[in-house]
Amino acid sequence: MCGIVAYVGGGRALPVLLEGLKRLEYRGYDSAGVAVTSLNEGDVGATSVCRAVGRVSVLEDRLDAGGGDGFDGHLGIAHTRWATHGKVTEANAHPHQGTAEGGANIALVHNGTIENYAALRKLLEKKGHAFTSETDTEVLAKLVAELYDPDNEHALETAVQSALREVTGAYAIAVTCDAEPFTLVAARKGSPLIVGIADGGYVVASDGSAIVSHTSRAVTLDDYQVVRLSAGPANTSGSDKAWAAPLHTTTIDNVKVTHEVTELELELEQIELGGYEHFMLKEIMEQPDSVRTCLRGRVDTRDGRIVLGGLNALSRELVRAKRFILTGQGTAYHAGLIGEYLFEDLAKVPARAVYASEFRYRNPIIEDGSVIVPISQSGETADTLAALQEAKDRGALSLGCVNVVGSTMARETDAGVYLRVGPEIGVASTKAFVGQVAVLTMLALYMGRRRVLAHSSVEDFLTHLDRVPDHIAAIVQQSDEIKQRTADVVDRENWLFLGRGYNYPVALEGALKLKEISYIHAEGMPAAEMKHGPIALIDEGMPVVFIATRGSQYDKVVSNIEEVKARGGRILAVATEGDTDIERYADAVFPVPDVPEPLQPLLTVIPLQLLSYHAAVLRGHDVDKPRNLAKSVTVE
Ligand code: AGP
Ligand code: GLU
Repeated sequence: MCGIVAYVGGGRALPVLLEGLKRLEYRGYDSAGVAVTSLNEGDVGATSVCRAVGRVSVLEDRLDAGGGDGFDGHLGIAHTRWATHGKVTEANAHPHQGTAEGGANIALVHNGTIENYAALRKLLEKKGHAFTSETDTEVLAKLVAELYDPDNEHALETAVQSALREVTGAYAIAVTCDAEPFTLVAARKGSPLIVGIADGGYVVASDGSAIVSHTSRAVTLDDYQVVRLSAGPANTSGSDKAWAAPLHTTTIDNVKVTHEVTELELELEQIELGGYEHFMLKEIMEQPDSVRTCLRGRVDTRDGRIVLGGLNALSRELVRAKRFILTGQGTAYHAGLIGEYLFEDLAKVPARAVYASEFRYRNPIIEDGSVIVPISQSGETADTLAALQEAKDRGALSLGCVNVVGSTMARETDAGVYLRVGPEIGVASTKAFVGQVAVLTMLALYMGRRRVLAHSSVEDFLTHLDRVPDHIAAIVQQSDEIKQRTADVVDRENWLFLGRGYNYPVALEGALKLKEISYIHAEGMPAAEMKHGPIALIDEGMPVVFIATRGSQYDKVVSNIEEVKARGGRILAVATEGDTDIERYADAVFPVPDVPEPLQPLLTVIPLQLLSYHAAVLRGHDVDKPRNLAKSVTVE
């Protein structure tokens, strides 16, 4: 959700900021802005600000039109906003500014929400600060200005610390002051922020994608930490080269913190399109490889066992666990629902998938032996983090099923299994979902083997699991065929997705994918549920997508198909390869290889991803930047 990039150092800030903003576009935003502090004589700067509603390209055009005047400095902050407080307008776009006593100008960008902003605003207005936006963020900028004391040695850092002690809510911020043109201050609580240590400077960003082209050495800030970064071009500190002072990290209470420098696990090519038209298509197509990487070294077909290094220390507790709570939002929740089936079926352990947003507020019962499994691509989703915290506070063991290495969720769980599917840029989650389901399948087999499953049946599953990447490679070959079939029905505004058993959550996921990027109204549900009401919706030509693979409930699904057919619905079916019977009922069939039922979701979801991708493109939508959506939802 929304993004921050900031730079201080020997190079010019603006190109770094604009490149970073473009890399962060995938996170979802509605307006963008930048502030650059330039060096004037006497080492006192002047801050230039430019903001625009819409894409980063609009901001760039505006900067070009201004001829770049005032934007040649070495210190700057930039932002893509996803509005929470106040409409999408230029006045509400960040950076926001404040003026300190004595005239110093504070510029600030912010991700997150300030909960006590209304009270603070009143107070600041009384003190004479005039507000120009409706945002909660402007309060923060003015508060830093109010608390700025030029007599302090590190005035900006101290003012930021003091301001953050007054606010409640969530924030990642980057702040500059024109009286300190070599200093960038950044801080976080509840919203991610990373400091990249580059040659002769620092790049701060909401995620590694805006940093990796400059450096792979980084420090991930923890909650309530403030970092002071000082750097500058040649001859600004008596040196004839660009210089950078060591980064200085404290808590908001000014207690010095020792930070750890880590390597960003991100390659530039992973975050570039590499010839594909959209990241979503690239990520669908690379699933054979991403699943292979997810399974590599973990599925030992020779010895018939699952090897999950991250769980070694907890294996006894996991085997004896009495209950699993699988939690997440959106697509991750759907993966959790599949996990519920997998854990109960294969490991015979009670498991429930719950929306994190519901779990956290419902006074949940956590019995002895409970394990919470937060499922998340980003590892930063606010609701999922809160659910994790709630369960941990009540004594649950925690086990992460997360993609982003070093994310807050990965750091706040007792143990975990990374998805290892690489960065997911497309807002509509595809390869992360399949990675989540693959990890949950391995977890279920890991526990199943230690609880109830015979060696031979685990061996059988593993042989099939090992072939899943090849099966996915065969399915994605059908992309053109799926596109053609989608074109026949893409003008319809209402769709149903139906499945049973393991494929019921796949139906939910298929409907969500279609909604997100094509803006078609779609509902997913258990196929049997249709008769209990939604059947009333079916009219001539309404597209109904069935997941109708061979399995224990195949005949029942076929009966449901007949019921829809009888009412004029148009049937699109994901079916088992070689099933010719289904062709009698379905208007379009998308075949998938035959695998045991617990492994089917890993395959059946793939045609649905392609279907929604093509539907969105055919309807002329920007698949990677769907309206109103953010990639990572870091507010409640
Ligand atoms: C999926 O396509 C989504 N846009 C969304 O539902 C997402 O899965 C959800 O917000 C959870 O995100 P997370 O996996 O990063 O926690
Ligand atoms: N709450 C702030 C606003 O509405 C920040 C939103 C964001 O994270 O982009 O401007």
